Formats: sequence, structure tokens, C-alpha cells
Amino acid sequence: SIELSLRPQRLAQYIGQEKVKQNLQIFIEAARLRNEALDHVLLYGPPGLGKTTLAVVIANEMGAKLHTTSGPAIEKPGDLAAILTALEPGDVLFIDEIHRLSRVIEEILYPAMEDFVLDIMIGQGPEARSIRMELPPFTLIGATTRAGHMTAPLRDRFGVINHLEYYTISELEAIVERTAIILETPIQGNAAHEMARRSRGTPRIANRLVKRVRDVAQVRSDGTISVAIAQYALELLLVDDKGLDQVDEKILCAIIDMFNGGPVGLDTLAASIGEERLTIEDMYEPYLLQHGFLQRTPRGRVATAKAYQHLGKEPHN
Ligand code: ADE
Repeated sequence: SIELSLRPQRLAQYIGQEKVKQNLQIFIEAARLRNEALDHVLLYGPPGLGKTTLAVVIANEMGAKLHTTSGPAIEKPGDLAAILTALEPGDVLFIDEIHRLSRVIEEILYPAMEDFVLDIMIGQGPEARSIRMELPPFTLIGATTRAGHMTAPLRDRFGVINHLEYYTISELEAIVERTAIILETPIQGNAAHEMARRSRGTPRIANRLVKRVRDVAQVRSDGTISVAIAQYALELLLVDDKGLDQVDEKILCAIIDMFNGGPVGLDTLAASIGEERLTIEDMYEPYLLQHGFLQRTPRGRVATAKAYQHLGKEPHN
């Protein structure tokens, strides 16, 4: 499918996250030389930065089969046992949203990760006994939006811990151009730059913009993404010129208009705009903090001068 081919399959095709790539390249090569499974890898960072893509790439580089699941999908010990007993030596198991595993499941995972054994309870009450099964050596790749949501014992069992960062505009530009080529859509260089600038540091957003701007180019023009078409389409899509989306703006406007610029507590802020606290914390705040629109203080969140300026608001005193 197109979705799949937009994703790079090998490390060499993966744009950005240079530090993470350099490290992984070495660890993958070393594991391959020793003919071992790669050590367990934890990937954390905001959504849309390529955690799932990296899992695909790592499995491909290891020449291993990838099994994919997620924290909330593993409800009962039997669910995890079924997944683990299906693994072949060297396979990669990807668990997305790994911070959402229950404690019971985590406890089964510890010996599986550490010693490649599965301890399962058979029967109930006085008849209950535990049997131990050997597992093949495998690589667990865990992904989470925030490592802070994970229990320390689980986090400590990953030998490789990588934080994914927001992408630079030039990295996003390269991703936009690569995607346009795959979608067979001609694109002008400055149009790619314009779209990259408005992608909120996030390849998933950049790729979504390419598809939607391509639609507009096809219907309103000759199919080429020119700067004019890109700007027109981005206006239709309500993406502002810093790449902030409507939720970003809602957050900043609420702090400024309803709480006098802050400080305001996260729960109060979340309730006032009808979003979940965790959504703001994991999906929105990291970008706003990093780009200087928002500050975190002990008493709550504060809108910065840059936020006032960007939204065309007068500072309060
Ligand atoms: N598509 C999505 N993320 C990508 C990345 N990091 N490199 C290349 N293509 C991508």
C-alpha cells in the first residue's frame, strides 16, 4: 500500500533522528556480527515522529520478522503468552503504547525480557502451580509518548533507550520531497519548504499535508504543487504559518484570554478547552514548549511573549 511505501524500510532511507540512527546502526551491526538478537529497544517521544517506522526499519536491518501489538491490546496473561510463544529466534516484538500495559502483564514480561523465559500459572487455588517455558532470544521494541509514564523496573530492562526529537525544517523538506516523488507529484522546491515549515516538526503531519495539497493541486491546477497552490491549500487546511494547528491555538488563546496569560494548572486548562490533560501533555505541550510559545512554571503554564505576538494579542500587565 502507499501508506507502507511512504515509510522508509531501511536505515539509509530514514531521514532525520541522526543520533538515534548512528547508535542503532552500531548496535545492529554488532548484534549481527555476534549472530545474536538485538538488545531490547525503548523509543520515546511525541506521536508522529516515526517510532513505528523505526521498529519496521530495525526488524528489516536485523533480517528479522516483526510482530506488532500495543499495550492496551494485551489484556490477559494468555494474550501475552500467545504472542511470546509464537516468536522465533531473533524476531522483533513491537509493543506500541507500552506504558499502558497492566502490572500483571508487566510482571510476566520481566523474566521474558531478562532471561527469555515465560512463567505461567496453571490452575487455581491449592491446585495452582507455575510452569516455566523457554523462549527464543528476541528483541522487544517498546514505544511510548513519555518514558515518565513507565514504571522504573520496565524502563530499566531496555538496553537501548532512544528519545525521538522533533524534525528540523530541512529534514521535513527532504521527507516532503521524498513523499512527493513516491506519490508521483511534481513539487516546487520552495513549496516543499513552505509545507515543511508548517508541519509542526512531525513527519506524519508533513506526509498528510503532501496528500491534501496534492488533492488541491489536482483539482484547482495542473497537478503540480507550486508555492501558490501550497499556500492556498494550507489556508484551506487551517494550518497557520508556524504550523500550529487549531488545538495549539486553542490552548494558547485560553491561557491568554481566560487566565490572563497564566500561570494556570494543566487540569484547569484542559477542562476549559474540553481536551484531556494527557492529550495536552503528550501531543501539544512538547512542541509549544520547545518552540517557546509556552512555559512550565511550578504554579502552572504561562503563555510567552512569542505566543502573544504570534496570535496578535496585547500583553496584560
Ligand atoms: N516518512 C516518515 N518518516 C520518515 C523519515 N523519518 N524518513 C523518511 N521518510 C519518512
